[in-house]
Amino acid sequence: ETVSAEGLYVLPGAIDSHVHFRDPGYPHKETWKTGSAAAACGGVTTVFDMPNTNPPTGTLEALAMKLKAAESSYVDFGIHALFDDSTVATLIDLLDGGATSFKAFVGNTFGNLPAPSDGALLEGFETLAPLGIRTTVHAENSSIMARRQKHLREAGRTDPLAHLAARPAVAEIEAIGRIITLAEWTGARVHIAHHSAADSLYLLREAKRRGVDVTAETCPQYLLLNTVNMLDLGGLLRVNPPVREPRHNEPLWRALLDGVIDMIATDHAPHAPEEKTRDDIWECDCGFPGVETQMPLMLTEINGGRAAITDYVRWSAEAPARAWGLQGVKGVIAPGAHADIVLVDMGRSENLSQYRLQSIGKISPWHDRQVKGCPLHTMVRGRFVVRDGELLEHTAGWGQSIKPVQRMPPARVAHPDTTTRAITEPGAAEREAR
Ligand code: NCD
Ligand code: ZN
Ligand code: ZN
Repeated sequence: ETVSAEGLYVLPGAIDSHVHFRDPGYPHKETWKTGSAAAACGGVTTVFDMPNTNPPTGTLEALAMKLKAAESSYVDFGIHALFDDSTVATLIDLLDGGATSFKAFVGNTFGNLPAPSDGALLEGFETLAPLGIRTTVHAENSSIMARRQKHLREAGRTDPLAHLAARPAVAEIEAIGRIITLAEWTGARVHIAHHSAADSLYLLREAKRRGVDVTAETCPQYLLLNTVNMLDLGGLLRVNPPVREPRHNEPLWRALLDGVIDMIATDHAPHAPEEKTRDDIWECDCGFPGVETQMPLMLTEINGGRAAITDYVRWSAEAPARAWGLQGVKGVIAPGAHADIVLVDMGRSENLSQYRLQSIGKISPWHDRQVKGCPLHTMVRGRFVVRDGELLEHTAGWGQSIKPVQRMPPARVAHPDTTTRAITEPGAAEREAR
């Protein structure tokens, strides 16, 4: 069971805070086994799975089903449970049931889960703040998008750019501002999923400066693709939030380098080929696989001199380990702890092919793209799950929940006038003033 690491880089395995493994519910798109195999082959040793499965991960029964399905995983995993109006009163029960953290679909997306009301967001943040549990938010304003989409459809627009027109950057800016306001008031930790717009970066920068514990991810598609690619690829590249105009790419890179955006996630969102290739843009499912292509795509940029490999390690492993409190040996929060390792060949060139993906939903906008820098061997908790690029199938099921190594102190003291105080200590501020 030995491999030679001669000429290779030894990196911590990537921690992907945003994957949709579709299990239970959509086995024609992905399963835990195939999704986690894709992760392992992509150099990813820990994933966080999203709750828009069927049933959605918002009840103890659904959570148990997901944990059961995840028993076939090759890689370690966290489970983001659903945070909405129907679950907000049971968040602690869901944590006790094995959820790691939460996801709020503030913007409408695949699965059509209703957005939580602002009241429920405030309440849930109040519940989670003292526990230090981070809530990931799909931050797009559903009301803006629903009206836009209605008008565009009435006008007969079915072209690729109609998807972007229906989900303008202002929908993302507005939702991020709202989430930051509620997080600051309650002292809750929040995480902005798939940050795509240049115009909302100032909100993150200023909130971080004020001490709000807001983290953010962006994805390779927002760094490397834009509406020019949308014209070529059409529905295949339809994704929420949409890839935006070319002017957004560079500021996102700069935000990563400055630490305004903390990490790279993939939003791995596979769909079946027939669901991605319909003529009418509104009928194409949103999203595409990513967990297997993130590392080669990003390492290609590192090879091109855009950033140092240490920057990449910060984005792919260190920042997510910190954000979700993944403890290593003797309690130290550290990427690559427990020997979660990937060995990469920075000199190896490949032509990405969607047909070689482990993922079931193979249709990928990265098909035929030239990359340089590839993961070769992946080790999860000291054991190879991929060797010489080959998946070791007998290691299916080696993956475990990361819950036991996750310990987060409360984030920060809430605003002094926080709403819970008004409920539990009426007149406190007035007594203090007397
Ligand atoms: C995701 C999916 O298919 O589950 N799709 C997407 O376009 N990103 C949902 C999501 O993350 O919004
Ligand atoms: Zn989303
Ligand atoms: Zn997603």
